[in-house]
Amino acid sequence: MAHAKLRLPEDRALLSFIFARFIDGEMTGLLEGRALGYAPTLQAADFLARQVRDEIRHAQMYVALYRHVNQGEDVPRSPWLLKAIMAPVTGRLWAEHCFLDKALGERWVLYLMRQLIEDTQDDRIERTLLAIAKDEEAHIAFGEAQTRDYIETGRFRRYYLWGLFLRLDLAMAIAYRLLRPLIRRRYSEAAAGMLTRFFTESRDKIAVECAALLGVQARRSLSQLLVCQVIFWIRLPFVGWWRGPRPGI
Ligand SMILES: [Fe+2]
Ligand SMILES: [Fe+2]
Repeated sequence: MAHAKLRLPEDRALLSFIFARFIDGEMTGLLEGRALGYAPTLQAADFLARQVRDEIRHAQMYVALYRHVNQGEDVPRSPWLLKAIMAPVTGRLWAEHCFLDKALGERWVLYLMRQLIEDTQDDRIERTLLAIAKDEEAHIAFGEAQTRDYIETGRFRRYYLWGLFLRLDLAMAIAYRLLRPLIRRRYSEAAAGMLTRFFTESRDKIAVECAALLGVQARRSLSQLLVCQVIFWIRLPFVGWWRGPRPGI
């Protein structure tokens, strides 16, 4: 269904905000370098090294888009709190990293990009986002493949990762609840429609896709969320200490 399109200069404020957050997100992609310390194989380490390169290139492309939207203005420094919220969400386990940061976190970013591609009337924005989206799809596919390997051996693992998914899903729901009045008040009708679809339709699609990946039902269960979160916190101080930085072959 065709929607009203975001345009410049009317939607400059929202587009600037999103591109500045995308830059923050890409910068946290540099933390992929940390995961190199526990990549299980040389192949995985090689993928991460290339991904870090991709994320740096994406950050540069978003800086160019920000300037395009703001007639050459520089990107302002990000508020500390926003950066803290966007920092990677995982613990020290390879599988948690691959599922939460790659298969899930990057999927959210990809969905927002697709929404922008569909709903923005600006060739340059569309072209740049299409180019970056291709790389993000590859990062997600890698995260999915690693997740499948991990869950192969046990039902508990599926249950656990779905529980961790639910925590982030809830965070998105809360973010939408908090932002909804602001979205309606501050942005154009096209922008409000785009954001609403992202927080509702995309959130549901992502839940269905992640459930299919894990081989579980897409059921939102508060008790499962809490149980898995408690397991996550209890394990956190103990897991991941005994791995060497040298990956297996
Ligand atoms: Fe990226
Ligand atoms: Fe990425």
